[in-house]
Amino acid sequence: MKLIDAPTPIHKMDRLSQRLGGPELYIKRDDGIGAGQGGNKARKLEFLIAEALARGCDQLVTLGGPQSNHCRQTALYAARYGLRCSLVLRGEPPATKLGNLLIDELLGADLHFAGARSQADVVDDLMRDMYAKGNRPYFLPLGGSTGLGALGYVRAMEETLAQLREQELEMDTMVLASSSAGTQAGLALGAALFGFRGRVLGISIDASVQDLTTKVREIALEAASLLDYPVAHDALRIDINADYLGGGYAVVGALERDAIRTVAGTEGLLLDPVYTGRAMGGLFDLIGKHAFDREQRIMFWHTGGASALSAFVTGLV
Ligand SMILES: Cc1ncc(COP(=O)(O)O)c(C=O)c1O
Repeated sequence: MKLIDAPTPIHKMDRLSQRLGGPELYIKRDDGIGAGQGGNKARKLEFLIAEALARGCDQLVTLGGPQSNHCRQTALYAARYGLRCSLVLRGEPPATKLGNLLIDELLGADLHFAGARSQADVVDDLMRDMYAKGNRPYFLPLGGSTGLGALGYVRAMEETLAQLREQELEMDTMVLASSSAGTQAGLALGAALFGFRGRVLGISIDASVQDLTTKVREIALEAASLLDYPVAHDALRIDINADYLGGGYAVVGALERDAIRTVAGTEGLLLDPVYTGRAMGGLFDLIGKHAFDREQRIMFWHTGGASALSAFVTGLV
């Protein structure tokens, strides 16, 4: 089953490097992957939806924030494969559906706002109801971040290293936005498996270094066991910076706003307000603090999400 058009391109960002005074910056365009505005979840969903179909499931159930990119991409592939899709979203329904929420609705997903209840309880009730009606739901946890989903990013690391070899390029560091941990788990395992010697630096969006490291490790080990790959404990390098949590999850501040505007204005590329905007802002700050040599090469994983921009007008403008 192929949900994505890979390899996704790697572009050099000369104008941005110049603006920041080095290092050499590149961007891996996973924002353009697959259909429906792309993003990292497509690589995970390729494995998860294959499992759902193999099990004969007829509905997908998942959860997230109201602007979840994972929910939007799940709804998209559910529509494409003729599955029903139920999204359990945090909080109350907003007065106007913007950004990803608008897309979820256009895709025909059933939206359930949890309100004051825990999302897990709402999911349990929904699934029980579905089973009682004879349906066969498939549940995808937050961000599709399971060992199986992370295989999408093991494969992405293999793909990227092959591209870099072809272009006779070596990256010193790869930078990504890390939250539910599946993307970083896949990349860290892929780095161990395919011999990437540079750093894979996750900029945490909403968790402490310790919590995120534990999650990344757990998911990477689960993915390794699916591959029957006995990864040595010290072969998994998990590198996380949690200095850019700002005002909290999905709170857009100056860091995100400046990064989004700078990348848009120099490269004509749109980042997203919650993940890549924050991670790029963190990278700018690290560059400003001379955390990297000028001649180093850094590749930023654009994991998508710009489809949420219109829901963040207040923070962005
Ligand atoms: C655009 C975007 N970038 C990065 C991430 C982080 O990926 P992960 O949840 O696998 O850590 C997410 C999802 O959470 C996302 O939607």
